[in-house]
Amino acid sequence: MSTPIRFYYQGAVREVRNAAPTQTILQHLRDDLHCTGTKEGCAEGDCGACTVVIGTLKDGQVEMKAVNSCIQLTPTLDGKALFSVEDLQQPDGALHPVQQAMVECHGSQCGFCTPGFVMSLWGMYLKQDGVKPSRCQVDDALSGNLCRCTGYRPIIDAAMRMGELPKVDFDRTALAAQLAPLQREAMSVYSADGRNFLAPRTLDELVQARATHPQATLLAGSTDIGLWVTKQMRDLGDIIYLGHVEALRTVTEAGGMIEIGAGVTLEDAYRAVCKHYPEQLSEMWQRFASLPIRNAGTLGGNVANGSPIGDSMPWLIALGSEVVLRSGAGERVLALENLYLGYQKKDLHPDEFVQAVRVPLPRAGVQFRTYKLAKRFDQDISAVCAAFACRFDGDTVVEARIAFGGMAATPKRAAATEALLLGQPWNEATVSAAMAAMAHDYAPLSDMRASSAYRMKTAQNLLRRYWFETRAVAPLANADVNAFAVRA
Ligand SMILES: Cc1cc2nc3c(=O)[nH]c(=O)nc-3n(C[C@H](O)[C@H](O)[C@H](O)COP(=O)(O)OP(=O)(O)OC[C@H]3O[C@@H](n4cnc5c(N)ncnc54)[C@H](O)[C@@H]3O)c2cc1C
Ligand code: FES
Ligand code: FES
Repeated sequence: MSTPIRFYYQGAVREVRNAAPTQTILQHLRDDLHCTGTKEGCAEGDCGACTVVIGTLKDGQVEMKAVNSCIQLTPTLDGKALFSVEDLQQPDGALHPVQQAMVECHGSQCGFCTPGFVMSLWGMYLKQDGVKPSRCQVDDALSGNLCRCTGYRPIIDAAMRMGELPKVDFDRTALAAQLAPLQREAMSVYSADGRNFLAPRTLDELVQARATHPQATLLAGSTDIGLWVTKQMRDLGDIIYLGHVEALRTVTEAGGMIEIGAGVTLEDAYRAVCKHYPEQLSEMWQRFASLPIRNAGTLGGNVANGSPIGDSMPWLIALGSEVVLRSGAGERVLALENLYLGYQKKDLHPDEFVQAVRVPLPRAGVQFRTYKLAKRFDQDISAVCAAFACRFDGDTVVEARIAFGGMAATPKRAAATEALLLGQPWNEATVSAAMAAMAHDYAPLSDMRASSAYRMKTAQNLLRRYWFETRAVAPLANADVNAFAVRA
């Protein structure tokens, strides 16, 4: 029997019984609930016009996060609270400080993007608890919102202004009380439109569901899959949703590794890893998509999708990360690079899923860097993504792990380049030879993001950049100093 979807919206618990499992939250809001404040711009997570805030109960506390409703599926709302721009007006009809600040700072012209901006700003307002944010926080909160007419300065002014207006509190305790009775103890199955949406709660239920539905689509944060629905009109068949499996949402540290459950959001996963690699990974964290995408998408989804231009795989592989796969037969642990067999081909059995990713903690002597090349700073997919983790003994390279995205059909290590570096002095001559060797490792494609020649040239130059940034660890030969002086 089908279990209805229950969620909290505008002061009431809503039940959904007939919507297709692939209906988006945006469609539900506009078509079924007739709340049309939330807009559709791109339907692919890029413009932010559809931004809503979702409240989730975790360990008795409510987490409020801005996400793109155009690529989130309605059944994922079960047990959660949905907030759209209609929720912001105060009981006496007054505007919320976020809206008032937008009015005062002239942050809206045609208004199409405005509800999305307002919801992203509200998400930040809640996180800051009304305290004035820094400019960096504003930029990050708005990284997923595009406006084609106002220009961003008045909107940024509004973001700064809202904290100066009389504060409006949000009652998280009351919301937690509303959500508590909506939580389910065991797996639920929602069926509509000839399809099933299975939502296991435990790892055992997930293993069982995967074994009995090996053809079903595993759905995590929906930031890739949402586009299969809205852009490719793909039939997902039955869906197994990972978002309610608590055991997949944990981060632990043991045995020199950070273990990140496959259901941990990108935002939380990058936060956990950046604690250990703040200088090397913070920019990648900030430049990975936008905050609403990172609030929904998972590290497990990034790794399982294994796009050749995904941003996490190069640095995970360079660091020597492992992926923990799980099925009824138990756990299987692979070096992450061995998961990728070919374009969209993985060493993943039909009854398996990614349970966790294990990331090594920093090791003495290892110099780690990762670089993303894309046309825009925020919210853009890489043309080339590089990661280097070499270990040095004096000025000798004793360990080399180099991985690239955007250079091959899979995220891939640079075996020939690594081999050339091993045992060599870390100097200009070695680096030049290694740059030449890279041509044996990769034959990149030309596409709309970059030409093959651009990719090869920039990949080689990123190795040189890595050398510039790390060579201080090794004593410099005079020749190196002179070479640098000439270029400078
Ligand atoms: C606007 C936008 C910007 C983006 N920017 C970037 C970017 O800058 N860098 C980047 O790398 N990516 C980017 N992406 C892609 C996407 O956000 C990431 O790939 C994300 O990590 C996918 O995770 P998810 O949880 O949303 O996966 P989903 O969309 O739910 O699933 C993706 C795939 O992984 C499979 N899967 C998910 N979890 C598991 C599991 N535990 N076990 C087995 N299979 C699983 C699914 O079946 C599906 O095949 C962007 C996407 C959008 C829409
Ligand atoms: S409509 Fe553009 S991000 Fe959703
Ligand atoms: S006000 Fe017109 S798109 Fe932003």
